[in-house]
Amino acid sequence: MTLELAGKIALVTGAARGIGKGIALVLAEKGADIIINDKKMNYDGEAVAAQIRAMGRKTMLIEADVSIEAEVKALFEAIQRNFGRLDILVNNAGTSQAKDIFETSLEDWEYIINTNLTSTFLCSKAAMNLMATQMAGRIINISSVVGERGALFGHVHYAATKSGMLGMTMTLARTGAPLGVTVNAVAPGIIETELLFKTHGVEGVEKLSASIPLGLGKPRSIGLAVAFLCGEGGNYITGATLDVNGGINMK
Ligand SMILES: NC(=O)c1ccc[n+]([C@@H]2O[C@H](COP(=O)([O-])OP(=O)(O)OC[C@H]3O[C@@H](n4cnc5c(N)ncnc54)[C@H](O)[C@@H]3O)[C@@H](O)[C@H]2O)c1
Repeated sequence: MTLELAGKIALVTGAARGIGKGIALVLAEKGADIIINDKKMNYDGEAVAAQIRAMGRKTMLIEADVSIEAEVKALFEAIQRNFGRLDILVNNAGTSQAKDIFETSLEDWEYIINTNLTSTFLCSKAAMNLMATQMAGRIINISSVVGERGALFGHVHYAATKSGMLGMTMTLARTGAPLGVTVNAVAPGIIETELLFKTHGVEGVEKLSASIPLGLGKPRSIGLAVAFLCGEGGNYITGATLDVNGGINMK
């Protein structure tokens, strides 16, 4: 069996658990070597790395808060030192808070904007610099169905970041095109992760699940969509948003 992503170097941010972990494992399964980034590697980082090594791929754990410029700089210096190139960037690190606008402080707002959006800006800028010298690369932004139609309640800061990622995706797609870099977004629906249960609770998740034709999603399904965009199938796709949501957003 040919491995479509053999020899590719991929950075997945926020990959120590949840959707990022699912993406890292699928990209490795398809042949890529993986840089696992997270600000809390003690979640599952070592276990993800062990699974990737067991597949015969190279991997490296780099703890960094990707919302902080100096940490992103150090992260990309380590990538250049150890791998010399970067083929795939997946901007996945992100979080939310189950608060409506009345409960959301400026500090909450800035925390979510920095975690979800500033991180995407900083990592994309560093990656585009590298990819421009290679004249090749793929950037995938993990947005959300919330970025397309707003949140059902609260999460105003989160919705702003996830819509913002779609605007960044289309704009960077134009910048990247003459440089051989494609930029796309994946918009997951409701995916079973620690973040989902933290922000919606078990009852909330059950209610949401009942409204999805294909039920709750798994991180692996998001990984498979990312792998598609990074493989040959994605070679003429840029500035697009791929909905991976079990039918929750049918129009
Ligand atoms: N779970 C869902 O239903 C769902 C739906 C749509 C979109 N998403 C998006 O998918 C992405 C992953 O979400 P998840 O559900 O797996 O969440 P999660 O909380 O389970 O995992 C997120 C990971 O990102 C890491 N992280 C957070 N801030 C970071 C930072 N500043 N620097 C480095 N790492 C950081 C966390 O430590 C954690 O390991 C997020 O961008 C989220 O908005 C999730």
